[in-house]
Amino acid sequence: MQDRNRTTSADFVENDNNPSNNPHLSDLLQVRLSRRTTVMGGLSATAAAMFASVPLVGCGSDSKDSSTATPALPKLGFTPVARSLADTVMLPTGYSLSVLYALGDPLAAGVADWADNGSETGASYEKRSGDHHDAMAYYGLGDDGKWASTRSDRGVLCINHENITQSMLHAGAISVAPRLEDEALKEINAHGVAILEIKKNAGKFEVVRTGAVNRRITPNTPMELTGPVRGSRFTVTAYDAKGVKSMGTINNCGHGETPWGTYLSGEENWAFYYQRLAGDNAKRPAPDVALLNRYGITEGTAGSYAWASVVAADPASNVFKRWNASVTGASMTGSDDFRHDANTFGWVVEIDPFNAASTPKKRTALGRMAHEGAWFGPVSVGKPIIVYTGDDSRNEYIYKFVSEALWDAADAAKGTAAGDKYLDKGTLYVGKFKADGTGEWVALVHGQNGLTDDNATFPFTSQAAVLVAARLAGDAVGATKMDRPEWCTVNPLTGEVYFTLTNNSRRVAASPSSSSPMVDAANPRYYEDVNGAATSKGNVNGHIIRWREDGANKFSWDIYLFGAQADANLSNVNVSGLSANNDFSSPDGIYADPRGVLWIQTDDGAYSDVTNCMMLAAVPGMVGDGGKKTIQNTAAGGAVVPVDTFVGKNPGDENLRRFLVGPKECEITGLTMTPDGKTMFVNIQHPGENSKIGDLRSHWPDSQTNAGSSKRPRSATIVITRNDGGVIGLV
Ligand code: FEO
Ligand code: CA
Ligand code: CA
Repeated sequence: MQDRNRTTSADFVENDNNPSNNPHLSDLLQVRLSRRTTVMGGLSATAAAMFASVPLVGCGSDSKDSSTATPALPKLGFTPVARSLADTVMLPTGYSLSVLYALGDPLAAGVADWADNGSETGASYEKRSGDHHDAMAYYGLGDDGKWASTRSDRGVLCINHENITQSMLHAGAISVAPRLEDEALKEINAHGVAILEIKKNAGKFEVVRTGAVNRRITPNTPMELTGPVRGSRFTVTAYDAKGVKSMGTINNCGHGETPWGTYLSGEENWAFYYQRLAGDNAKRPAPDVALLNRYGITEGTAGSYAWASVVAADPASNVFKRWNASVTGASMTGSDDFRHDANTFGWVVEIDPFNAASTPKKRTALGRMAHEGAWFGPVSVGKPIIVYTGDDSRNEYIYKFVSEALWDAADAAKGTAAGDKYLDKGTLYVGKFKADGTGEWVALVHGQNGLTDDNATFPFTSQAAVLVAARLAGDAVGATKMDRPEWCTVNPLTGEVYFTLTNNSRRVAASPSSSSPMVDAANPRYYEDVNGAATSKGNVNGHIIRWREDGANKFSWDIYLFGAQADANLSNVNVSGLSANNDFSSPDGIYADPRGVLWIQTDDGAYSDVTNCMMLAAVPGMVGDGGKKTIQNTAAGGAVVPVDTFVGKNPGDENLRRFLVGPKECEITGLTMTPDGKTMFVNIQHPGENSKIGDLRSHWPDSQTNAGSSKRPRSATIVITRNDGGVIGLV
């Protein structure tokens, strides 16, 4: 999501490590172990199925005797795409795209096509594509309607709809408070998640509007809270006095793919939708105020779209009033208002893609934050399930969840029942990155590490309190403040974890404060960057950190890659030696595909004078393949502030190159592939982000094939294939 984090005061922490490291995975790249089974042992079930079916480098594609195959690093096989400011998606020579699913497109028979004039009703968005397509995942769909992990011609796409470009949804002028009911309903329903069947027809993927799996999950869809927070005092609302059920999901950003064939969706900037009235602090206990403030819902805030201002035709409707997080009722518990409603957001939501009638489950054991997504470590029989998460706000933390239950491969077909087993009981950790290149995961457990009832900032009276207030728990244990944790991915070839840190305008090299921390080893850059007439300061272009789990809640890290423009200073900005073929700014989406190709997507506002947002492909090495380096920062007052850090080997054009550039004012986010590696799906989010009626800043996707287009810009999913039918990205 662009800009939201650039305008808030929220701060961040970091995440934890995986004690169940498999040394043979690390050895793989160094000694080129030859047994395919060794490689497969460290993959998730999904990745293993995909790997097995993809005839690519790494496992000896044509080998009937896999024991003699020699794993090798993949080799990128396309010509780099040039930087671009055009209003089209640019791809390498030999690749083509089609638009699959754009804002407002019908997801059911009998729903009219998008009219391009804002005439669609609010209710119709329960059966249309939402806006701001973000993370997504493809699941093969069998003839029996169940998960078919190797099927590449028919599937279910799960797509997050993170936010809206408000003015592109309506006919013209937008109501101000009190908002018009149908306008607000349309905006609400354009959020959430979409589940849709897609199928190849004459060699080309199409949406199956009559698909049995099709559904829109919105901020009004009934959900169930599971894990330690379920039924606690924190989640009591007028919707459910027992604190067990909640209304919907919102600001769905990154995602996760479970080893058991379900979809996880992260609730990111949910806090900004809430109104909280002036004078509300005096009506509630001090710990509640501390909690609300730490998550950015301060007294006197109006809420992004003022939905709470709607005077609903049905006075009993909770659809709008729930966005007022103030104490308005007389109860002590909150059962007569929505003072606690914000505590029902900030979770990782599990959705069964194959059952349109299923109730999504909010997995509270993973903690509450501005969740970007949830990404699984290598899955091994008899070992715990590991899930990495991050809190995307400036100076927030990176987390790791370790399940209590040990993985049983028989659970791979059990859907959300497996989620009940692995995601509701376990330990949440938060990460500390140390100056010597190691790190530590600190347990966030009630009664441990100062998370006690008598904590001065917030009384951690239960594990529910620790999880609802995960940010405050991270603060209490001294977690490392990171430069905005976005996506994570685990390299299937090594088991190493990659985390994008997109940028941080509050990182400083002088005069630090609690909200503007000093450069440190894991967040080592402060500099100035010019973008047109604007100058930005801090870690403007972001970086990608990675680590290897060393066991016993320890890890070893280095910085894989620094974002920078190619002509920036090599000693303190363009530290990774990027060129015109691969320079980028603000890494956000990241995804290691089953072949070990790392895809990096950008959400950038700093290099926009030169290029639109983009996606690059990389072949990463491993932690420690570079070395120690001193970054010579120049502080705001002119003093030189050196910071020692650990930097991965420069990738060069050989192992990092630009694959795609998007249209104007978009973000590139979300990608998934079919198991055969021949079709890639990518989301183009908010083209023409700053458009208003009468001032359209982009006409994409129509502009892709119509240079004279006057149509509205629309977020959309595109389908990328190779003209020769080959696999994506490789030779
Ligand atoms: Fe929704 Fe942090 O990007
Ligand atoms: Ca610049
Ligand atoms: Ca993102």
